[in-house]
Amino acid sequence: MEKLEITGDKKLQGSINISGSKNASLPILAASILSNKIILTNVPAVKDIDTMLELLTSLGSVIKINKNRKTIIINNNKTNKTHANYKLVKTMRAGILVLGSLLSRFNKAKVSLPGGCAIGLRPVNIHIDALKKMGVKVKIIDGYIHAVAKNGLKGAKIKFQKISVGATENLLIAAVKAKGRTVLSNCAIEPEVKDLCNFLIKLGGKIKWIGKRKIQIDGVKKLKDINYKVMFDRIEAGTYMIVAAATKSRIAIKNINPKIINKEIFILKKIGVKIIEKKKKITVIGPKILKSINIKTSPYPGFPTDLQAQLMALMCIANKQSIIEENIFENRFMHVSELNRMGADIVVKGRKAIIKGNKKLNGAELMATDLRASVSLVIAALISSKKSTINRIYHLDRGYENIEKKLSKCGAKIKRIK
Ligand code: UD1
Repeated sequence: MEKLEITGDKKLQGSINISGSKNASLPILAASILSNKIILTNVPAVKDIDTMLELLTSLGSVIKINKNRKTIIINNNKTNKTHANYKLVKTMRAGILVLGSLLSRFNKAKVSLPGGCAIGLRPVNIHIDALKKMGVKVKIIDGYIHAVAKNGLKGAKIKFQKISVGATENLLIAAVKAKGRTVLSNCAIEPEVKDLCNFLIKLGGKIKWIGKRKIQIDGVKKLKDINYKVMFDRIEAGTYMIVAAATKSRIAIKNINPKIINKEIFILKKIGVKIIEKKKKITVIGPKILKSINIKTSPYPGFPTDLQAQLMALMCIANKQSIIEENIFENRFMHVSELNRMGADIVVKGRKAIIKGNKKLNGAELMATDLRASVSLVIAALISSKKSTINRIYHLDRGYENIEKKLSKCGAKIKRIK
């Protein structure tokens, strides 16, 4: 099994090109089933995307990826299967996003329940309850969602009981070709949801934001074949901003839109990080002294749960005690025990993690547990004196493209070993 070996305590310098967004690409790929031919650019080369492409192939899509993986061509003329297998959905929860598109195209779908995962229970009840309002009959048999819309999907008024990124995306996809008007309220407004909307609008969907968290969709009969460029990965950008702050380095983060990450910019500035903003890039300059902070994760435009673990690694070296409250997932503190093994002093009380600060971290043999927890260990290892080895980096490969290449280009001592 591959590992990462990192020797920390080094100042970095240089620039990092941010890849396309994994979390925007996944629903867009799922939605591609609605059309016959889609050409996508800026899709990152990460494992979750490979899994989604495998899932589409298993449904009958024909996928061509050009040599340098800049373009992905999806041909769905022959897509004919409606069964999303457990093997693929269990490794990547976003597999559930094909439920809406399969129902739209075939009026039926059999999709594996994703089950729990390391960061929490992660049920799909909100997706299912909303689809039922569109005329879908659902039965759960042997771990599979059997969904049928006998007379096709019907427009409906749906208020999500809780803000859910995935449920908003699944329902948007389902509603685009449904009969009549759908109004979704209490929607997630993450930039990735907006990117999916832009994609669906370019396909020919009639979608309008009619309130801050309210979307109106008028079903259309036919969609077009299009080219689409996926947005940048704001979580990858935020991660490298934290790397620069943690290693007290100067790093330019390129191919981004700073407006989309203004919360992250605001928070980092608040703890003392200098950030110079340009149109499509920012330069992050880590300060000598990092100030502590108390912060809560919340849906966009709040501070993202997907950057919580990275910020926690950073707060270990802040000047005072910080408190981070995790409000999205109930079990997203698995990085804490590994950070403590490196010399951090973090205590978890319910949803809150209390981080002592002022700590010197030491390298260690570490275990990655989920995608963002893994990258928080990379950050801690980059701060540490001595060498660290991070095991189970397949978690990292699910969502970070060329991480060791991007970091070593800036002078980090990081290598992948077998
Ligand atoms: C997406 C992101 C993930 C991010 C999360 C929150 C993708 C592929 N993944 O995940 O990186 O951490 O948003 O920003 O885009 N919930 C229910 N029932 C449901 C659905 C969700 O109770 O049917 C709960 C979840 O357990 C969680 C909360 O709602 O506590 C938010 O989850 P959701 O926004 O749906 O996350 P995902 O779409 O799975």
